Amino acid sequence: MFALSFFLLAELLCQSLGQYDYYDEHYVPSAPLEVLSSPTCAQECECPLNFPTAMYCNERNLKFIPIVPSGIKYLYLQNNYIEEIKAGVFDNVTDLRWLVLDNNNIASDKIQAGTIDKLSKLEKLLFSYNKLTKPPGPLSKSLDELKLISNQLSSFPASTLSGMENLTTLHLSKNKLTTESITGAFKSLKSLVLLDVSENKLKKLPSGVPPSLLMLYADNNEIDSIPNGYLAKLPALQYLRVSHNKLVDSGIPAGVFNVSSLLELDLSFNKLKSIPEINDLLEHLYLQVNEINKFDLTNICKFSSPVNYSRLRTLRLDGNNIKHSSMPDDTANCLRLASEIIFD
Ligand SMILES: *[C@@H]1O[C@H](CO)[C@@H](O)[C@H](O)[C@H]1NC(C)=O
Ligand SMILES: *[C@@H]1O[C@H](CO)[C@@H](O)[C@H](O)[C@H]1NC(C)=O
Ligand SMILES: *[C@@H]1O[C@H](CO)[C@@H](O)[C@H](O)[C@H]1NC(C)=O
Ligand SMILES: *[C@@H]1O[C@H](CO)[C@@H](O)[C@H](O)[C@H]1NC(C)=O
Repeated sequence: MFALSFFLLAELLCQSLGQYDYYDEHYVPSAPLEVLSSPTCAQECECPLNFPTAMYCNERNLKFIPIVPSGIKYLYLQNNYIEEIKAGVFDNVTDLRWLVLDNNNIASDKIQAGTIDKLSKLEKLLFSYNKLTKPPGPLSKSLDELKLISNQLSSFPASTLSGMENLTTLHLSKNKLTTESITGAFKSLKSLVLLDVSENKLKKLPSGVPPSLLMLYADNNEIDSIPNGYLAKLPALQYLRVSHNKLVDSGIPAGVFNVSSLLELDLSFNKLKSIPEINDLLEHLYLQVNEINKFDLTNICKFSSPVNYSRLRTLRLDGNNIKHSSMPDDTANCLRLASEIIFD
């Protein structure tokens, strides 16, 4: 019940705070209260009898990783004060599937060899909010989800993700990654659906990202341009977020956003002076807080006619240098689906 209401609350908060629906909140179930633990469970933790492959050691003020009995496949260690992963701790559970280490104090040089690198069946590694300066590993090729949010990553060797054909979700936001440090990092991935590199030090969108990508988040970086043809190489991409960057008109090649897969394009908080050309099928366009000074519809309503119109539902133009009164008269037909057109 607690878990459920927390989940609902989190969703409500996201809806009221964010400008778009949130997709990626990871829901880690907590142990049900007052269940009997299996006899082999570490005494600091709980291993529910009705879920004997899971060991819950989260929120227990732990400074170290307890003994993990064999048979455990899902290990929850988040929200503790763990500083080190000592040699041998996972020796009895080398077939671990999920390892959750979020919110601890682990630095890269405190991960001993023969620990995480021995977990060859690992599918989820959640290691956000720690003190990593480089990715742990070598990591299991079986990973489907890797979260390293809010560490101090400044390097990310090109070999880190090699052979991870099933990796779908990769969160690297809130680190110190540069364009150079991630060069070649994503090229061998085949199943990647979500890549979040927001809040880093990138000057360019990541190169060599796989065509399977649906969501690319690169907000809060130092990106000033989009390479010509960048989106044409990502035929499945639906969500592109490049807000809070340094985009200028001269860095936006003609037609670079004119791809029919895109549903949401967030270019807010940049330095654009004009509305870029978009595809007729785009549904949400965020352009607030730029330097746009004319409401030029030609880039939004290219083929406007009684039967042809823009699919835009959201168009945010607040925080620019245009007023509602400068909206051209023929807007109504083209923007007939836009229930949210926001000026200042
Ligand atoms: C592994 O399992 C054996 C036998 O149950 C136990 O004695 C040992 O302490 C365990 N090692 C670790 C590192 O948990
Ligand atoms: C990827 O998933 C498939 C299907 O589950 C599996 O057969 C394959 O071994 C996985 N690849 C790796 C590298 O684990
Ligand atoms: C935009 O893309 C569509 C195909 O999705 C194409 O037909 C059209 O010519 C493109 N527009 C421009 C100006 O390149
Ligand atoms: C509708 O728009 C498409 C391009 O999206 C264009 O090729 C076509 O000629 C337009 N049709 C009409 C009736 O305006």
